Amino acid sequence: MSGIRMEGLTRRFGSVAAVDDVWLDVADGEFLVLLGPSGCGKSTLLRMIAGLLEPSGGRVLLDGADITHVPPQRRDLAMVFQSYALYPHLSVARNIGFPLRARGLSKAEIRARVGEVATMLGLTDLLDRRPRELSGGQRQRVALGRALVRDPGAFLMDEPLSNLDAALRTTTRAEIVELHRRLAATVVYVTHDQVEAMTMATRIVLLNEGRVEQVGAPAEVYDEPASVFVAGFLGSPAMNLIDAVVRADGAVHGCDLELPLGLDAGVPERPVTLGVRPEHLVTTPLERAGLRGVVTAVENLGGEEVAHCLVGAARVGLRGPRPLGLRPGDRVGLTAAPEHLHLFDPDSGRRLAWQPAAASTNA
Ligand SMILES: Nc1ncnc2c1ncn2[C@@H]1O[C@H](COP(=O)(O)OP(=O)(O)OP(=O)(O)O)[C@@H](O)[C@H]1O
Ligand SMILES: [Mg+2]
Repeated sequence: MSGIRMEGLTRRFGSVAAVDDVWLDVADGEFLVLLGPSGCGKSTLLRMIAGLLEPSGGRVLLDGADITHVPPQRRDLAMVFQSYALYPHLSVARNIGFPLRARGLSKAEIRARVGEVATMLGLTDLLDRRPRELSGGQRQRVALGRALVRDPGAFLMDEPLSNLDAALRTTTRAEIVELHRRLAATVVYVTHDQVEAMTMATRIVLLNEGRVEQVGAPAEVYDEPASVFVAGFLGSPAMNLIDAVVRADGAVHGCDLELPLGLDAGVPERPVTLGVRPEHLVTTPLERAGLRGVVTAVENLGGEEVAHCLVGAARVGLRGPRPLGLRPGDRVGLTAAPEHLHLFDPDSGRRLAWQPAAASTNA
C-alpha cells in the first residue's frame, strides 16, 4: 500500500477555482474522507488524484514519486464510483476479472484471484450471474471486487454508497471498514454524508469552496470545530450558532442569553459567535436559565427528540432522550456547561481559543 501527497493542488474551471491550493498527506493505510457540501470540490480533487482530470497547478505524489502527469491506467490506484459502471453483458466473475485480463494474466491465475476476492466479499454464489440479476448492494460489491482484484497501491472512492437504500448503506459501510482493516489499505473516500465520514474515517478533511477548512480525526473535528463552517456542517441538528458578546464579567451575553464561561472577570469585551451543540443544552427552571426561549416545534426521532426553540431572534435546537416534556408554545429555560461552549470570531468565522479559568483559583 502507498501514501499519497497533494502539493498545492488547484483546478480552475474558467474563473472558478473548484479546488484551490490543497496540501494534504494521506498516510500509508489511512482511511481519509473528503467531506463537504455539494459543489465544494470533492470529486474534482479525487479525479485529479486518479489522473482523470489535469490540475491547473500543484502536484500529486504516490509514495514520493511525482505522478501528476502519469496517465490514469499507469497510476497504481483503483477508483470506485457511485455508478457501478459494470459491463452488463459480462458475468460477475468476468466483471471482477476484467482488469486482470487487460494485464494479460493466465486464465488459471485470474480464476484463482477472482475466487479469492469473491470469497472476501461474499460473492462466491453469484459469480455466474449478470449485473442485471443483482441487487444494488451486490452490484456495488462487484464494483469493489473489480477494484480489489488489482491489489492497487490505494483505493479512491467517490460516494460509492449513495445509490443504496438506508439499510444496505449501513451494512456496506461496515463491510468497507472491515475490508480496510483487513487489507490495511490506503483509501481516499468522498462523501457528503457526515455519518459515513464520522464512522469510516481515520481522518476527515472538510472542504469548503475548494479549500481545506479543517483536517482531523472524527472526534477532533466534531469536538473542536475550527470554524463556523465546520461547526454548522457536522451534527444533527448542527451546532447552534448565536450572535453574542463576551463581557468583562467573564460571561457571554446576548438576547435572552447569559452564560458564564468560567473566565476570570476583567476579560476584554468582544463580539463572538457562540456555538453550542443541541445535545449539550439541558432544560432548567427559567429563573436559573442561561437561555430563555419559546418552543416552536418538537420532532420525534424515535429514541430521542429534538425541540426547536427561539431564543431572542436565534433559532436554537435541543436534542435529548424522548420525551423531553416540551410542547410548541412552551416557555423554556436552557443551560450548558462552560466546557461545551464554543466561541468563534464573527468576522473570520475561525475558532477562538479560550480556557475556562481553573475552578480552584479563588481559595
Ligand atoms: N467539467 C466542469 N466544468 C465546469 N465546472 C465544473 C466541472 N466539474 C466541476 N465543476 C464545478 O466545480 C465545482 C466542484 O465540483 P465537484 O464535482 O468537485 O463538487 P463535489 O464536491 O464533488 O459535489 P457533489 O457532492 O455534488 O458531487 C462545482 O462548482 C462544479 O460546478
Ligand atoms: Mg462529487
